[in-house]
Amino acid sequence: MGSIVQPEQILKRDPDGFLKNNVLDLFSLKGRTIVITGGARGIGLALAFAVAEVGGNVAILDAAAKPHEHYQLLKERHDVKVEHYQSDVTKYEVLKETFAQIVQHFGRIDGLVTAAGICPDEPFLDRNPESVARCMNINVLGTYYAAQLAAAQMAKQEPSEANPHGGSIVLIASIAAYVASKGQTTSDYCASKGAVVSLARALGVELAMKGIRVNSISPGYMMTDMTLDLADKYPHLAAIMTTEPPMKRMGDRTDLKGLIVYLLSKASAYQTSEDILVTGGIHAGRLM
Ligand SMILES: NC(=O)c1ccc[n+]([C@@H]2O[C@H](COP(=O)([O-])OP(=O)(O)OC[C@H]3O[C@@H](n4cnc5c(N)ncnc54)[C@H](O)[C@@H]3O)[C@@H](O)[C@H]2O)c1
Repeated sequence: MGSIVQPEQILKRDPDGFLKNNVLDLFSLKGRTIVITGGARGIGLALAFAVAEVGGNVAILDAAAKPHEHYQLLKERHDVKVEHYQSDVTKYEVLKETFAQIVQHFGRIDGLVTAAGICPDEPFLDRNPESVARCMNINVLGTYYAAQLAAAQMAKQEPSEANPHGGSIVLIASIAAYVASKGQTTSDYCASKGAVVSLARALGVELAMKGIRVNSISPGYMMTDMTLDLADKYPHLAAIMTTEPPMKRMGDRTDLKGLIVYLLSKASAYQTSEDILVTGGIHAGRLM
């Protein structure tokens, strides 16, 4: 007969940890460095504010040479380090060099948010291979490369007081991973966001033992320059974006700020491989 392992030998018995961990401390990003791809405007820039507001340093990485005017406000308002790097998530060697610069300037990487993305709108039967490849390159491969470069740094860096172990990666997916967008023809976009959700799920498992957590967020219709441009171009979309959600409004980028801090911080220390939908209820159904 083999020996019986007693529960005491398996369990590290400390059921009272919650008494030592104040919830406000759990949500702090003080002393951590977060890289945000696509952070020069839109959702990425709003998430940069969220990070800075809870004390995190922010490295924005974007194809745009000049960030939105709110970037200046981000730099002035908060007593944290904020830098913008012009780069391209589809060009692996260029991206690798940008990550190396970020590590040189900030010393480390504790979190990554991948908000760089595009959303072409063209019927499936009219799509040409170059334009489909561009969408896949930015939304899927760009996300993959950025996650890989961030994880490589997180795995090898020394622990810090602010972050003793690993890091947190948050991929921005979309409700489009689950349902076709009403009034839009976005086949490659939907496919790309399905891939992003699957990537987070797989990486969360593969990187768990390195202390790196990977989750994704799937927003519904959020009010950004991208969606406002669409609404100006196609007025029927403005109506859809405000009436389709059961809550009967578009999301404001504020609606993602708490969630990104949660996912990047110790508050979500036991959560990985999850996709969190923030859609005003679209994913669940319609009342009428
Ligand atoms: N706005 C929404 O309603 C909504 C809903 C669901 C998901 N999303 C997703 O959120 C992300 C951000 O969307 P947004 O509305 O803020 O869009 P946006 O166009 O305002 O911002 C996207 C940013 O990505 C950058 N970018 C594009 N290609 C790049 C590249 N090759 N390398 C580096 N940066 C690049 C752009 O310069 C831009 O600053 C996207 O992935 C989008 O699919 C948006």
